[in-house]
Amino acid sequence: MILLAFETSCDETSVAVARDGKVLSNVVSSQVRLHAEYGGVVPELAAREHLKNLQPVARAALQEAGVTAAELDAVAATQGPGLPTALLVGFKAAQAMAFALEKPFVGVNHHEAHLYSPWISGRPATADFGAFRPNVSLIVSGGHTMLVLVEGELKHRVLGGTIDDAAGECFDKTGKLMNLPYPAGPEIDRLAEQGNPAAFDFPRPLLHDAGDDFSFSGLKTSVRYFLRDHPELLGDRQQICDLCASVQAAIIEVLVKKTIRAAKREQVRCVTASGGVTCNRALRAELERACQRHGFVLRLADRTLCTDNAAMIAILAERKLLAGLPAPAPDEEIKPGWSLA
Ligand code: KG4
Ligand code: ZN
Repeated sequence: MILLAFETSCDETSVAVARDGKVLSNVVSSQVRLHAEYGGVVPELAAREHLKNLQPVARAALQEAGVTAAELDAVAATQGPGLPTALLVGFKAAQAMAFALEKPFVGVNHHEAHLYSPWISGRPATADFGAFRPNVSLIVSGGHTMLVLVEGELKHRVLGGTIDDAAGECFDKTGKLMNLPYPAGPEIDRLAEQGNPAAFDFPRPLLHDAGDDFSFSGLKTSVRYFLRDHPELLGDRQQICDLCASVQAAIIEVLVKKTIRAAKREQVRCVTASGGVTCNRALRAELERACQRHGFVLRLADRTLCTDNAAMIAILAERKLLAGLPAPAPDEEIKPGWSLA
């Protein structure tokens, strides 16, 4: 089965081609530079940029895969959650293409697709999911932070999520307080390497709460007040590195400890992680260490697949088609607020 998939839920225009669990191409055009000027994603700009980029990205994906549109068996797209105008571009393009080719169309949940990205690896990338189910999956990005119990094929249960800011948002907003460019996550990652994570003691919100929910806005506020009272720290490079390392350590401790606690409670053998924040080197290292200590197999999404991409959309769409899930009605619409059950 050959699938073409579109992902335009936020600021990445991505198109992928997959055949029988293999990713033949995964072209991603990131808009991050465009939005950097505004300090965050501007929905209207994102949608216009998707409109501009979708055709060349789709052509490149087909060409790289060596596949023509006539050979496609199905077309898929992210249906939600995401920015409404951004979602519309990829979703409607995919729907129109499926209609014109008289092939099935599959709309998928973006968060559910993230559950699949840790299982896509190698060159050519192949999905080998299923080896370690059930697993507890951490999805952590600029828009979402959640823990999901993956019980089996297309079967999952959300254990917890953020009640305010996402972890990536916390990286970005605290970075802004330190005058770092948007998105600050990668910059904090880099500067933290030269800093002392114990230099400043920031709160670890909800760390000792028995539930699986997260909260990061209090941490951001605590950094804001701390810098209001100590503005001189921002004039010293080493202090900035120490601040980055300390903020990063607080975020990571919460993410790692809560993930391990959920994995123990749910008695799974495997932990997985994906989403943009999973690019963070210290988070990857801490998850490795913790999983080793507690005897869990860890599957981290490849760095290229941590951030939003259409490969994960294609792989999930294929699983849905193979499972014989009913095709959606032709007049299906986007679901910007579609939360995972
Ligand atoms: O998955 P993604 O590309 O987009 C969504 O938000 O859906 O994630 C982007 C987020 C941003 O908040 C960015 O700062 C964060 O991921 N991020 C990182 C790193 N790379 C990206 N955060 C910490 N360390 C990194 N190396
Ligand atoms: Zn995402």
